[in-house]
Amino acid sequence: MSSKEVIDVLLEEDRTFSPPEEFAKDANANDPKIYEEGEDLEAFWAERAEENIDWFEKWDEVLDWSNPPYAEWFINGKLNASYNCLDRHLKNGRKNKAALTWEGELGETVTYTYQTLYNEVCKFANVLKGLGVEKGDRVAVYLPMIPEAAVVMLACARIGAPHTVVFAGFSPSALAERMNDAEASVVVTCDGYYRRGNVIDHKTKTDKGLEEVEKLDDVIVVQRAENDVNMEEGRDHWWHELMADADRDCEPEVMDAEDMLFLMYTSGTTGKPKGVVHTTGGYLTYATTTSKYIFDLKEDDTYWCTADVGWITGHSYIVYGILANGASMVMYEGAPNYPTKNRFWEIIEKYQVNILYTAPTAIRLFMKWGAEYPESHDLSSLRLLGSVGEPINPRAWMWYHEHIGGGECPIVDTWWQTETGGIIVSPLPGITELKPGSATNAFPSLEVDVLDEDGNPADSGYLAIKRPWPGMLRTLYNNPERFENTYWSKWDNTTYFAGDGAKKDEDGYIWVLGRVDDVMNVSGHRLSTVDIESALVDHESVAESAAVGVKHDVKGHVPFAYVILDDKAEPSEELKQELRNHVSDIVSPIAKPADLVFAPDLPKTRSGKIMRRLLKAIANGEDMGNTSTLANPEIAEELQAKVAKEEVAATK
Ligand code: WT7
Repeated sequence: MSSKEVIDVLLEEDRTFSPPEEFAKDANANDPKIYEEGEDLEAFWAERAEENIDWFEKWDEVLDWSNPPYAEWFINGKLNASYNCLDRHLKNGRKNKAALTWEGELGETVTYTYQTLYNEVCKFANVLKGLGVEKGDRVAVYLPMIPEAAVVMLACARIGAPHTVVFAGFSPSALAERMNDAEASVVVTCDGYYRRGNVIDHKTKTDKGLEEVEKLDDVIVVQRAENDVNMEEGRDHWWHELMADADRDCEPEVMDAEDMLFLMYTSGTTGKPKGVVHTTGGYLTYATTTSKYIFDLKEDDTYWCTADVGWITGHSYIVYGILANGASMVMYEGAPNYPTKNRFWEIIEKYQVNILYTAPTAIRLFMKWGAEYPESHDLSSLRLLGSVGEPINPRAWMWYHEHIGGGECPIVDTWWQTETGGIIVSPLPGITELKPGSATNAFPSLEVDVLDEDGNPADSGYLAIKRPWPGMLRTLYNNPERFENTYWSKWDNTTYFAGDGAKKDEDGYIWVLGRVDDVMNVSGHRLSTVDIESALVDHESVAESAAVGVKHDVKGHVPFAYVILDDKAEPSEELKQELRNHVSDIVSPIAKPADLVFAPDLPKTRSGKIMRRLLKAIANGEDMGNTSTLANPEIAEELQAKVAKEEVAATK
């Protein structure tokens, strides 16, 4: 973002919003003293870990930060995440409380109480054991938004087998790549699922990916859509058949606080996706504590997070943080506009949802559809709204506040990442004065700042975290070097580089501006330019390519590609479509370039590095800025003229 744009954003809305008195009175965090308490990092987290988590054995030491960037939290503490999400609620009065209420796209509803969810989890834990899965083995999960996804995650946690959930919308090769990197030889998938009334044939897609998996033992298939699928004898098992014979008693494995709980792959700026490692004690303490304070979870609340379990938001704020608090949550399978654009509002009315956590891209879509949809429903059960995934522009914030929150609900704009495990910058809804468009302040005990290139505090620069926190990633799976280089080498090895640009205003409020690296955010989904470029050069007609994000009214950004064709290939409209579809097939439909141009060459620095900053400016119709460091400045102008002439309008 240019500084002019930043100023525009800040000027767009100058109203601020204090917590409503009623809300503040009963809020889980309503005393600003909590920020002072946070100054003593270890004491603050020791207290939360005792209060919010049940330990089989207490830790000896809260934090070991003597070997940065490698942190250890709750040293020698023993616990089990599934025990904390389930077993303990069977004895504290929540046995018959709704834990998970699922709504399928066709309108069917299933409610699991804490007891029945526990039963399913124990049974599936025994199924995994029966297939030979042991503590430490990685289990891949390739499931859409069906309750079994949560059951599998908790069952894995129960037996100490880290899960790696692959977003169901990802391509077969993305599944294979992740399974191979994680060395997972068991995968849980399903026959199909519903999207806008159609059955997505997920098993065929899974099978395609599995062809590329190096070591594969078992495939467990949940029957969701009852579509015809191919089952491979000896390898593929129906979920319901295995579950029918499974024993319901399964003692939770005693896990060390630093044992891996799960792996979550996320896009980086180069090469393969990164396997972010989260461990048990710190992650669970962090997800649970942030859920309690930021979502202000109360015994009678119904909470709905619209994210997918395939992303970190689904891990921390659908499964672990929410169930560990003993809350009731709603999970929805399908699209927001099926069968009509009223679907979300009907769900809120039907379940009397009190807390809604969604993404700016969804909010902008609802805005585009018009306020008449939410307005024709009674949304008065809502008392708190949340936003995550990308910057929420003040206009969308105000619309959310007015049309969904009836002007009365605080909004928590929560900034965090797959790597941070939980929310880092966010208001506390009973305390913080809100400024539309700002994620406001660091969570208590966290030290977040905006730094310049040299690591000095600045009004505008890079977002940095200057103190360790329990939910932080511990390393990248099998790649500590990349872990150190990506996050802990920009300044010193105790300062975390988030890859986001940010601004700090005169009150110290943080305004996150978006990625500063070659990562783009499409509808709140993180994609790297490299993913798209690799898919393009995988096509026989493509010699070289560069992908950038172009601003989009609803999706935040959409991918846009520049393609240099192989000498033998001829540019044509058909080829353009073929290349776009190729990216969709190889990476994901989310990654499909909204548009692409055939380029004679790409602007490069004298050292041969593609100048993506420039390509981004051209695609967005912005001023190119300084081109003096280019080896081939003429090509930049040529591309600019071409983009203007072809009316490349990816954003419309
Ligand atoms: C990137 C992390 C955190 C779960 C979902 C995405 C962007 C996230 C915000 C926000 C501005 C945000 C950042 C971040 N982002 N939340 N509230 N305001 N930007 O997780 O896939 O790891 O992506 O999402 O750019 O670095 P992720």
